[in-house]
Amino acid sequence: MSESLSTVSYIGATILFILCLGGLSNAETSRRGNLYGIIGMTIAVLATVFGPHVTTAGIPWIIGAVVVGASIGLYLARTIQMTQMPELVAFMHSMVGLAAMLVGFANYIDPAAGAQTGAEHTIHELEIYIGVLIGAVTLSGSVIAFGKLSGKIGGKPLLLPGRHWLNLVGLLVVIYFGQQFLAAGSVADGKLALIVMTVVAILFGIHMVMAIGGADMPVVVSMLNSYSGWAAAATGFMLSNDLLIVVGALVGSSGAILSYIMCRAMNRNFISVIAGGFGTGEGAPAAPAGGAAQPAGEVSPILAAETAELLRDAKNVIIVPGYGMAVAQAQHTVYEITKLLREKGVNVRFGIHPVAGRMPGHMNVLLAEAKVPYDIVFEMDELNDDFPNTDVAMIIGANDIVNPAAQEDPTSPIAGMPVLEVWKAKTSIVMKRSMASGYAGVDNPLFYKENNRMLFGDAKKMLDEVLAALRA
Ligand code: TAP
Repeated sequence: MSESLSTVSYIGATILFILCLGGLSNAETSRRGNLYGIIGMTIAVLATVFGPHVTTAGIPWIIGAVVVGASIGLYLARTIQMTQMPELVAFMHSMVGLAAMLVGFANYIDPAAGAQTGAEHTIHELEIYIGVLIGAVTLSGSVIAFGKLSGKIGGKPLLLPGRHWLNLVGLLVVIYFGQQFLAAGSVADGKLALIVMTVVAILFGIHMVMAIGGADMPVVVSMLNSYSGWAAAATGFMLSNDLLIVVGALVGSSGAILSYIMCRAMNRNFISVIAGGFGTGEGAPAAPAGGAAQPAGEVSPILAAETAELLRDAKNVIIVPGYGMAVAQAQHTVYEITKLLREKGVNVRFGIHPVAGRMPGHMNVLLAEAKVPYDIVFEMDELNDDFPNTDVAMIIGANDIVNPAAQEDPTSPIAGMPVLEVWKAKTSIVMKRSMASGYAGVDNPLFYKENNRMLFGDAKKMLDEVLAALRA
């Protein structure tokens, strides 16, 4: 493929990636957005593999790598559970970080890649140093995020004494070895500086994510998404590949915007989240009653048949799905119930919290999969004022996102986080299996409110029972 055809293909792929991101910003256009992304990526890979920078001798290696990578990807895509998607995303971010790191080392060692002289040589080495730095932080941070999201590592923040000083010392070491790296007379000397910096960056990534509490993980997930973009862009600079630079920058900046949106949704200051120490706990069972800050009182259980009766008699119903709906895979039954109630003239709407579930848009994806119409799915801000006019608020496997402690208890780890004010409805019904707390490990006083009922059990099983009672 000629240089000009390869450039034209890259421009076409870039436009498709921008259209893809635009499409993904809205549930109705997201399928089209995905399609643009797939076509763009296919063009990008073909234009790179058959482009002027790949020799014929390299093609079998590339094909081998593509076959291995694609097989792993296909296997994961087919076997992964919907509830494991967040950790899969974290895993993919770590792979981008690893790739940036390895490309950086390979680029430094490769004599042909370092053939420049003067300022050009210094700039190239700086690209390598920064690329490896971002890659290493992304790699280790994402591995810890993977552990936290999959429950292999506890959600409690690890707060080392003098942690801000540790970070500062880490930064100074990185700057010092950066200067050593640029001044190194030989590849062997430079390699040592690069290795020391990589170790420090890996430790920094681990420390940064370990210090973040359960409630603030959404910000970290989107921040690592952004880092993976910048790592890809850095790789693009190292390889002088314009497409990788543009795509990396697109992912990096959209991830940064998402982090900002997440911070606003959770009423958090970005710097404070990164500095760590927000949010505690790891989903331990809630103490029933006790100390001043503990919610106290009795909970009122309800049966599926009674729930069906309340829903049948209601005029306005708001359904609030959370992580438990994903675990139970209850979205299809939720939609069956919604259809039935709507046929009976009940106004049913869905209220989606920006950090419901374990990844941005988690609930929207599940509801779209169950074919819930988009026009009855609302953002938290769009219907939070409607709860006082709502007969039944049905909370399906959600906990932190409906916790009134966020508003009522300034000492709570989730204090200040906006929540869906379900307790203002005439009756709220919480569907979950036990009294256990949610991801943030915080007790929920909603369960003890006078107008709240608890429908204990697996969400899918209980909703099946509700559906059967509604049909009876
Ligand atoms: P959570 O607060 O985690 O609550 C989910 C509840 O679902 C649990 O209390 C659990 O109670 C219940 N549950 C689990 N399996 C169930 C099943 N099979 N049937 C019925 N209920 C089940 O979830 P949420 O309200 O969606 O809030 C999200 C939390 O995750 C927030 O703290 C958020 O910060 C955090 N987070 C979000 C993201 C993103 S980007 N969305 C990323 C990382 C972390 P039982 O065990 O008693 O059933």
